[in-house]
Amino acid sequence: MTDTDIKKGLAGVVADTTAISKVNPETNSLLYRGYPVQELASTQSFEAVAYLLWNGDLPDETQLAQLRATERAYRHLPAEVRAAIDLVPLDAHPMDEVRTALSLIGAKDLAGTGSVLDVSGSTEENLARSVRLFAVLPAIVAYGQRRRRGQQPVEPRDDLDYAANFLWMTFGEESDAVVVDAFNRSMILYAEHSFNASTFTARVIASTLSDLYSAVVGAVGALKGPLHGGANEAVLHIFDEIGSAENVGPWLDEALAQKRKIMGFGHRVYKRGDSRVPTMKAALDTLVEHYDRPDVAALYDTLESEFVGRKGIYPNLDYPSGPAYNLIGFDTLTFTPLFVAARVTGWTAHIMEQLGSNALIRPLSAYNGPDERHIDGYVPDA
Ligand code: ACO
Repeated sequence: MTDTDIKKGLAGVVADTTAISKVNPETNSLLYRGYPVQELASTQSFEAVAYLLWNGDLPDETQLAQLRATERAYRHLPAEVRAAIDLVPLDAHPMDEVRTALSLIGAKDLAGTGSVLDVSGSTEENLARSVRLFAVLPAIVAYGQRRRRGQQPVEPRDDLDYAANFLWMTFGEESDAVVVDAFNRSMILYAEHSFNASTFTARVIASTLSDLYSAVVGAVGALKGPLHGGANEAVLHIFDEIGSAENVGPWLDEALAQKRKIMGFGHRVYKRGDSRVPTMKAALDTLVEHYDRPDVAALYDTLESEFVGRKGIYPNLDYPSGPAYNLIGFDTLTFTPLFVAARVTGWTAHIMEQLGSNALIRPLSAYNGPDERHIDGYVPDA
């Protein structure tokens, strides 16, 4: 094997087919099951998009009502999951809470399964598990943020749809329609993005015929890193460091001199801009107007134009979503758990697709360690 055969980071490698989403960097487009994501974000609820990702088509009224009824039934945080979250130190990262909570939910659901031969599940079982995780994640994320703020948990409201209820459980008050709409759009934009690092992690785990919960827990771990999902949180740290639009120039001079990566910019696949950014930027604009925060827009625009002008590297989805979540009132540490709540739909769709035509994912490596050598005095067994 030569160095040129090695695809470091699997860059450019087509690992399998997928019918779930199509990322086209040439046309700067992203399709979920054939639909442009910006059309879905403008017209659909997150519940309908989850249905689309799992089932291949948008739901009719009855199908959507059924999904919403099931989602409402699983919105409550089980007491033992709440207790498990409480065992996670308050100063641990909330992604560790999410990982722990999902792991316990999986263990409880699969209790009694017995042999590992039986854990991968049928499509029907995995669809039910997917809906359950999608339904309970808002309670996990909201509980975590409230716990860190020393606030009591807020019970879900059956009269509210997914996005409005998520905000209700987090803030304990009903959000304005414009805020619910921006949040719903962000969930749709974050839901799915082909073989990104966390989704591929989920598929690798599923390919061993492990269970859906284990695959999702592994994906949470992959998403936590700042080169992937952790970047939405990192964008806000950068905004806090810079402070205001006037400081962008000197801050960028120093950051680039130190060869720092500017979080929220760049993408492995998109090199001329992330297809999701214009839709999320429009949602951010509505929030800027709603909360009357032109300073946020000024900082956003100035950093974008200065960085793109100097490096030719464009913003990714995390760049507009970070400040949007901040304006809505989410703590910075809650941003990546929000990404989990959205992406669990894509992960679980991919797990089911992987299991539908499975091949164990097991690449090769090129050894570059020491040549064969031997222990002094070693005598082979006769
Ligand atoms: N800031 C500064 N320089 C950058 C950035 C950035 N955000 N992104 C890329 N570059 C530079 C690299 O330093 C490198 O320069 P060099 O060739 O002089 O060494 C060159 O561009 C290529 O970058 P790589 O990191 O090798 O490209 P890759 O395709 O592996 O990176 C990645 C993609 C990891 C997303 C990268 O752009 C990055 O680290 N961005 C910041 C983190 C981030 O925003 N992640 C979110 C991803 S999208 C999502 O999860 C929704």
